[in-house]
Amino acid sequence: MKNRLFMLLCLLLFAGYSMANEKVIRISTDRVSLIYKVAPNGRLYQVYLGKQLTQDSDIAYLPEMGEAYLTHGMEDYYEPAIRMLHNDGNPSLLLKYVSHETKQTAPDVRETVIRLRDENYPVEVNLFFIAYAKQDIIKTYTEIKHAEKKPVTLYNYASSLLHLSADHYFLTEFSGDWAHEVNMTELPLAYGKKLLDTKLGSRADMFCSPFFLLSLDRKAEENNGDVLFGTISWTGNFRFTFEVDHLNKLRILSGINPYASEYALQPNEVFRTPEFVFTYSAEGKGLATRNFHRWARNYDLKDGNKPRMTLLNNWEATYFDFDENKLVTIMDEAVKLGVDMFLLDDGWFGNKYPRSSDRQGLGDWDVTKDKLPNGVGKLVEEAQKRNIKFGIWIEPEMVNPKSELYEKHKDWVIHLSNRDEYYFRNQLVLDLSNPKVQDYVFSIVDNLMTRYPGIAYFKWDCNSPITNIYSPYLKDKQSHLYVDHVRGVYNVFKRVNEKYPNLPMMLCSGGGGRSDFEALKYFTEFWPSDNTDPVERIFIQWGFSHFFPVKSMAAHVTSWGKQPLKFRTDVAMMCKLGFDIRVNEMTEEEQTFCHDAVKNFKRLNDVVLEGDMYRLVSPYEKEHAAMAYVNEKKDHAVLFAFDIYPRYAEQNQPVKMQGLDPQANYKVEEINLMPGTSSRLRGNGQVYSGEFLMTVGLPVFSSRSTTSHILEITRR
Ligand code: DGJ
Repeated sequence: MKNRLFMLLCLLLFAGYSMANEKVIRISTDRVSLIYKVAPNGRLYQVYLGKQLTQDSDIAYLPEMGEAYLTHGMEDYYEPAIRMLHNDGNPSLLLKYVSHETKQTAPDVRETVIRLRDENYPVEVNLFFIAYAKQDIIKTYTEIKHAEKKPVTLYNYASSLLHLSADHYFLTEFSGDWAHEVNMTELPLAYGKKLLDTKLGSRADMFCSPFFLLSLDRKAEENNGDVLFGTISWTGNFRFTFEVDHLNKLRILSGINPYASEYALQPNEVFRTPEFVFTYSAEGKGLATRNFHRWARNYDLKDGNKPRMTLLNNWEATYFDFDENKLVTIMDEAVKLGVDMFLLDDGWFGNKYPRSSDRQGLGDWDVTKDKLPNGVGKLVEEAQKRNIKFGIWIEPEMVNPKSELYEKHKDWVIHLSNRDEYYFRNQLVLDLSNPKVQDYVFSIVDNLMTRYPGIAYFKWDCNSPITNIYSPYLKDKQSHLYVDHVRGVYNVFKRVNEKYPNLPMMLCSGGGGRSDFEALKYFTEFWPSDNTDPVERIFIQWGFSHFFPVKSMAAHVTSWGKQPLKFRTDVAMMCKLGFDIRVNEMTEEEQTFCHDAVKNFKRLNDVVLEGDMYRLVSPYEKEHAAMAYVNEKKDHAVLFAFDIYPRYAEQNQPVKMQGLDPQANYKVEEINLMPGTSSRLRGNGQVYSGEFLMTVGLPVFSSRSTTSHILEITRR
């Protein structure tokens, strides 16, 4: 007993001693803590990541989890965050803590920088953490700088390294292909490495999205359990490395994919990594999602708190087959629908090589005279006459070899001059590492806006990954291409945004090949997939919904799927509603239905576009799906319910709402019905308490394939 007491005393004394001698750096939000300590050896260690720890006195007891920004060449045997070669040929780095500071940059935002340095080489590494208190989001990036005489070579340069410790880890990845984006797969992690990466250059996340979720100890659930959601804000090659070590600890390295990308860093040049954004939720995926949505709307997404325009697009309605008359007729159809805008898609440009298919014309941004003899100006005018806005499609980073641009400026094209060219969708990528090419790409938007100031929207497409990789501009610095190309793309996005700050734009990349939070600083929305079959869309929207607020996800009603129009429309109404369909080919009832759907959508904007989202029933688990949206005041909610392909006479449980006020009473009304039909749902028109709706639920599923219901829930 005496011995035990003595041991305890020693432990407490030691803890006190360590506290006094170890500097603690705490990065906190309202519900999350990330804690670092400077050890007596002067190095920086992560000691905690998880649910907020409120008692300072406990921190002394936290064990070291791993070095904050692992370097190559020292005593750790796993993947480093940074690896560089010094001027004298020494490949090692040892970083020690120098100082740190925290400042409040906005009422709920605190920024911490931790400065590290190598004592033997003039190398500085600064770790930045921006903590968004209310949304529980932490954004982190790294700056690397040196003062050696000649450039050092950077081989690895992660944005972030996080350490976690649990018995079991379950990783959910979001992978797929064109028209088959963000399929969710959950897999356990065991000893060794799992990489999620891309090497596509542009159209960077066609196969694998730049986000993941990681659940501790059990598979991820919507409302329970500890999960980490992470995403890299980079529209280029990225890599996440999940490495479980011999002690069953997990390290997560996130950043630019260092594949074929050694970077010669000049003395005093700052290498700034992209931002890695994450949240930690001890209440499952649902909360993590809502954290991301709120953060994105408030701090990241362009015009995150502004309204969005509904639209009619002509891509699936016409493809390349249109002329002025047809477009003007479609504008009339947009008016019939009651949408805000007509969006002209691909196929309006090129004269020597008219863009009559995807085989030619890309790069020649002069309007095709045969098709549109009165130019874009006339279309803008026609739209204005009808009191709708006009938007236009461009794909300015690319070129068809059959184009005047290619003939004139082969030196602007990424290509290998001593090999046959390989084309993806018959095109090549322009070399955005070249400032002249950046000027040119900027001028495409600038010229259109200068000539036609009435253009109110751009859809910015990017259909090819980088093939035939060689930059005529970078010459002996080819390994900079993947990084400098993306930085060049951002330079253009920035310039466009600075000159036209109020111009909404859609980010598109042959469907959802670009969906990251750096690009979305310049874009109001993105196009999740070319697959507009509503059943597929339920899955695609479900996947993206984990990170992206629905107001950033464009969803169009088309004729791709042959399901009932109501089903197609109800699916699209879960995101930013648009149409891409010939309205004149619809029946009278269908036209009225769509018109009313647009009206409903606008009326529900405060809920669907600005509210909190709850995933209620997963299409991955059932032949049904349900999602709900609740506005901030909890007085207005919408429930979307879908029967996909249920079994005959299937029995279903009621769907329980979430996010309502249990004490309040709500009226439930089915909306978006086809004209001449009435609701067959039990409970339609009734008033229920929030408690009832959340604990007992509503019977909204049936065993009829591809049927759907939208319920509006309003506080009494
Ligand atoms: C790919 C996009 O994803 C489509 O929506 C459409 O704009 C085509 N490109 C046009 O070529």
